[in-house]
Amino acid sequence: MTEALLEVRGLTKSYDGWSKALGDVSMRVERGEFVSVIGSSGAGKSTLLRCVNRLINPTQGSVVFDGRDITHVRGRDLRQVRRRISMIFQHYNLVYRATSIENVLQGRLGYKSTAAGALGLFSEAEKRRAFEALDQVGLADFAYTRTDQLSGGQKQRVGIARALVQDPLLILADEPIASLDPKSSRTVMEHLRWAADELGIACLVNLHQVDFALEFSDRIVGLKGGKMVFDGLPGDLDEKTAAAIYATNEEDPAPNDDDDPSTAPDDSDPSAVLVECGEPKGSSATGEAA
Ligand SMILES: Nc1ncnc2c1ncn2[C@@H]1O[C@H](COP(=O)(O)OP(=O)(O)O)[C@@H](O)[C@H]1O
Ligand SMILES: [Mg+2]
Repeated sequence: MTEALLEVRGLTKSYDGWSKALGDVSMRVERGEFVSVIGSSGAGKSTLLRCVNRLINPTQGSVVFDGRDITHVRGRDLRQVRRRISMIFQHYNLVYRATSIENVLQGRLGYKSTAAGALGLFSEAEKRRAFEALDQVGLADFAYTRTDQLSGGQKQRVGIARALVQDPLLILADEPIASLDPKSSRTVMEHLRWAADELGIACLVNLHQVDFALEFSDRIVGLKGGKMVFDGLPGDLDEKTAAAIYATNEEDPAPNDDDDPSTAPDDSDPSAVLVECGEPKGSSATGEAA
């Protein structure tokens, strides 16, 4: 078997030292593969993603990314690993008083010294790259629009553009369409699928919506109560299995997005200080990408 881009083995996470949010989960994501993780609220989807990019430390098990065991990496090494893993959030995590392109440039911060990032020292090449990424998600016309003026679907596409300029090997998306209407949801899923197909970026996407998972994924992983209960092709996920994944137990909490820990402050990048950014030379706010 060739080496996977991501392999988690026996991943277990307990927040309270007693109950298991994630219990002995093992899975692989190949390079350029689109994998959806489905399951009801509290199934452990966010916990899995947070263990992968080490926002939290697993209680047991290991995470191997791009040929390297990253379960215990820290400091500079962790920063280096995170460059190649982009995050996309349900609530976008944008700086709303800033323009789209300023938000997209935040995706480059992992490549800069803290001082250069804080001072907004982005090269012309980086500004062009940011503009190109916005063009790739169909937002070239909105590059210099403040993101609080954008619709939810457009905000999430800015989030995708920010992820792309990181030059990631893997995009982790935690419920990227949970706050969007069906049409915007589809557009966002299409852009993620495009990133996998055309740019070879693997996507690990937590989803509530099994229909979108079936339509867009190469593989689907089903979690229930922290356990992996399905790992297979979309075509192998029959109705009975899907229903079992979502079957509610008495103690399951009601879905409540506001409780979603993925939106808690600990997910945001403390180095993401917003900076002013001029227009890149050779592009215009309304014209084609340079
Ligand atoms: N920061 C946290 N502290 C304590 N318990 C948590 C925390 N985050 C998640 N949990 C618990 O872990 C379990 C899995 O949660 P989560 O990974 O958020 O599931 P999902 O993303 O599938 O809704 C739930 O029982 C949840 O209450
Ligand atoms: Mg979640």
